[in-house]
Amino acid sequence: MDQTFVMVKPDGVARGLIGCIIMRLERKGLRLVAARLEKLPEKRVMEQYREHLDKPFFPSLRHFITSGPCFLMVWEGRDVVPVVRALVGLTDPAKAAPGTIRGDLAMDIGRNVVHASDTPESARREISIHFPESELCSYQQADEPFLYE
Ligand code: RTP
Ligand code: MG
Repeated sequence: MDQTFVMVKPDGVARGLIGCIIMRLERKGLRLVAARLEKLPEKRVMEQYREHLDKPFFPSLRHFITSGPCFLMVWEGRDVVPVVRALVGLTDPAKAAPGTIRGDLAMDIGRNVVHASDTPESARREISIHFPESELCSYQQADEPFLYE
């Protein structure tokens, strides 16, 4: 099974959307294997968003992402990286399709509620930034025979 890193950003936490986002991913059939609520230290924000360090929006992104606690998760499933990106929707919530998390729950690109890894390589990298191996749980889903042929 593949793994991806998903994070409810400070806006999603403050708006009480953690449960709603977990419910959407659980109901899809994905498996939650790690989770933690925490205010991200600067060092891990820089590692997490290293490809954006030179972008004009980075200072405000960095300021906002450290303004309150985030809810960090690792999810597992077949092709989970593209599956979760599709559930999350386009970066700009104004352009994200209805039915997606950003399309249904957000209004502004700087307050788009959730982060999800964009490739399997960045998923592996991001998981290792935030979670030691020992925090990743391995367990069986009772409904697995009904999720996969
Ligand atoms: P994320 O990394 O948070 O899952 O979002 P993403 O892949 O859809 O978008 P990405 O290009 O990686 O951008 C990371 C986050 O930076 C903020 N952003 N603001 N004002 C802007 O033009 C702008 N562009 C990006 C967003 O919060 C975006 O999620
Ligand atoms: Mg991204």
